[in-house]
Amino acid sequence: MKTRHLIGSLPLLTLCCGLASAADEAPNPNVAEAKGIIQQFATELQGELQAAMQEGGPVQAIEVCKERAPGIAEELSAQTGWTVGRTSLKTRNVAHNRPDPWEAEVLARFDARQAAGEDVQTMAYAEVVDGEDGKRFRFMKAIPTAEICLACHGQDVAPKVAEALDAAYPDDQARGYEVGEVRGAFSLSKPL
Ligand code: HEC
Repeated sequence: MKTRHLIGSLPLLTLCCGLASAADEAPNPNVAEAKGIIQQFATELQGELQAAMQEGGPVQAIEVCKERAPGIAEELSAQTGWTVGRTSLKTRNVAHNRPDPWEAEVLARFDARQAAGEDVQTMAYAEVVDGEDGKRFRFMKAIPTAEICLACHGQDVAPKVAEALDAAYPDDQARGYEVGEVRGAFSLSKPL
């Protein structure tokens, strides 16, 4: 019994690792660097978002997302030499965060991976892409929808919040999400 169980579980393990986290686990220094930058981005933004939500609720916190999300992305880009941003298939900041065709494809695959049961928390994808100005290393890491996100991205956004969002983002598409869904992704690239 024991032997059978062991043999039976080996291919599954290989399959899981190969599919779920090839980009994640590969000993690639670019992946490690990109993940470090994302960690900084997420920690900083979430800290500021949480503080703003506690102090003034979602209406006031919208301002933090509006100013600080692009601000932190710009700071990190300037510090690291990577191009750092966030994107989604349903963007709020349409002008700034709309996915390019490569990103849209990766995001569609993230949705499919989530639907197939993969954990969004560790979902990522890396690829070397040939562009007009040479090769680029591109990396995306999925951003899961958490409880705190629903105030501004959920199905039942409070009228006052909806009003403030409509005023700041007339083309907002980023509502209607449920906990656990892929809200979007961090997207990073750098020339090789
Ligand atoms: C207080 C309201 C608020 C909350 C709460 C909030 N967001 Fe947002 N979110 C925004 C705003 C405003 C933007 C647009 C930011 C900009 O202009 O770049 C945004 C943009 C985004 C984007 C960039 C793509 C896009 O749609 O333009 C992602 C990804 C995102 N949010 C994920 C999250 C996640 C994940 C959470 C929960 C951890 C969350 N948000 C919580 C207001 C909020």
